[in-house]
Amino acid sequence: MEIVVMPKLGFNMDEGTLTSWYKKEGDPVRKGEALFSIETDKTNIDVEATQDGVVRKLFIGEGEKIPVTLPIAIIAEVGEEIAAAVEEALALLEDFSISDAPAAPAPADSGQDVSASACDFDVFVIGGGPGGYVAAIRAAQLGLRTAIAEKESFGGVCLNKGCIPTKAFLRSVEALNETKGAEAYGIVGVDVSKAALDMARVQARKKAVVGQLVSGVQGLLQKNKVKIIMGEANIVGKNTVTVNQESYRAASIILATGSAAKGLPAGIVQKKTVLTSDTVLELEALPDEIAIIGGGVIGIEFAYFFAGAGAKVSVVEFLERILPPVDAEIAELVRQDLAALGIDIYTSAKVTKVTEGAVEFEQAGQAKKIKTKNVLMAVGRAPSIPAGAEKLGIKTSGGAIVTDGRLRTSVPGVYAIGDANGKMMLAHTASAEGIVAAENIAGHDSVMDYDSIPSAIYIRPEVASAGLTEEAAREKFGDVKIGKFPLFANGKSLVEGDAKGLAKVITEAKYGEILGVHLYCLHATDIIAEAVTAMKAEATAAEIAAAVHPHPTVSEAVQEAFHAALGGAIHM
Ligand code: NAI
Repeated sequence: MEIVVMPKLGFNMDEGTLTSWYKKEGDPVRKGEALFSIETDKTNIDVEATQDGVVRKLFIGEGEKIPVTLPIAIIAEVGEEIAAAVEEALALLEDFSISDAPAAPAPADSGQDVSASACDFDVFVIGGGPGGYVAAIRAAQLGLRTAIAEKESFGGVCLNKGCIPTKAFLRSVEALNETKGAEAYGIVGVDVSKAALDMARVQARKKAVVGQLVSGVQGLLQKNKVKIIMGEANIVGKNTVTVNQESYRAASIILATGSAAKGLPAGIVQKKTVLTSDTVLELEALPDEIAIIGGGVIGIEFAYFFAGAGAKVSVVEFLERILPPVDAEIAELVRQDLAALGIDIYTSAKVTKVTEGAVEFEQAGQAKKIKTKNVLMAVGRAPSIPAGAEKLGIKTSGGAIVTDGRLRTSVPGVYAIGDANGKMMLAHTASAEGIVAAENIAGHDSVMDYDSIPSAIYIRPEVASAGLTEEAAREKFGDVKIGKFPLFANGKSLVEGDAKGLAKVITEAKYGEILGVHLYCLHATDIIAEAVTAMKAEATAAEIAAAVHPHPTVSEAVQEAFHAALGGAIHM
């Protein structure tokens, strides 16, 4: 018996559409004979039978789109028992139709209890962060009558308490380091011993940058004729949102309510004030010392900031290494460089008590203590879900709203994007999801591709990656090729005075498909966009190696890493 499935024709192929059948149930078929044709976003291809037999069962009709590996047909001998296989295939297809069936065509036809014309809006977006405001703009661009509610400030955590203010802080530390190291570049006449950060001015600069971006977002929403409602919104029905005691009807609702910082289990923290990623950004004075609980992205960015500003920094991380999602080799290089800056990093360390004067923890069976008055908690974030979502029966898992690739929740017409769905808590993921959700509401069929979403860490040098780590690639593909290029051999890095780091690429062994790119170098967070574009376009290692990169640039290190994966870097 052969169960014919939707084939995976490339690493980035997630689904295909069956365009035409050449056989019907009961037809005999020979090995190598075309059974049906499929269409992907890249190609059209005939799928052939791999054994002789009879087409006993067809599961999919012409025009239907399903994910790769789902069953399409069963070929078996006449009289061969196929009942169990049919049952199993139908169960797989049913799971798909519940969780990932194609998008409903348009709000008016999407099975909701009100028609679009009876609504105040076609789309109501709750939350004005990088997910929500982008979704609202896209929806408005597509001609939908759109409203957005925001309870604090447009731009959400990213603009107000996350990405942008943190990067403003880090830019100040970079300027301080440049000032302190000015003599190395031939600059004289600067009393570097007096160089220090004035937090009041750092804060003022941060506020100016944030203010400009927040008003820019508001201006964009207005320009696109999105109705702005300031206030805390709640979803009270699948077509109803309340804000400031007013009720609004909407054909579709997008939940873009973000996330909030997590804490430690009850009883551990016995200290009145513990900094979070929100409050740390409001500091008016720099601490002399600080303990950071959590060696993830937030913990490491702030460790770098405070150490650069002159504080004694300790990081306590629960797992055996810092930056758990980062490629292990790169994370180890980062650890070494942070240690060289004087940051104490404790890994495999379980925090047991946080008091006014100390952080206590256990490491390798030993009780340890860091004496400190300042503690930053950076142990992750948890999705924020509006109170009414639960009453409405919107499905959640592990505290996050469950969504499919089209960002639909379990309630028709209600979508959830960004941190609220917990898939990837990154501003750029939220924005991409916002576009996908808005397009589906407008009747397009848009599916989110999570495969090559980049991540970025803004210490110096920067860390950026896309795709699989070496460990994950080896587990998934077995035989892979690794190409590495150390930055000390890169001209531009030497010119800029920072040649630490590594460019590392992972490719599939046979065809050279790019599985992962990991950069620890200057400008890594910008250069990673090349890798993302290449992966999205299904470029191969040979194509990137052959693409002429400008000289002198740090991007040459990426090209060299691909040369290395193909057999040898030129400059090593
Ligand atoms: P995270 O999940 O990146 O890291 C939290 C860390 O805390 C993990 O390493 C975890 O093992 C550790 N941890 C958890 N419980 C602990 C305990 N009891 N004791 C010691 N360590 C413990 O979360 P983080 O850093 O708070 O960031 C939150 C979110 O914000 C993440 O999704 C992150 O990707 C995002 N973010 C992204 C940034 C960027 O793109 N540059 C910057 C800042 C945050």
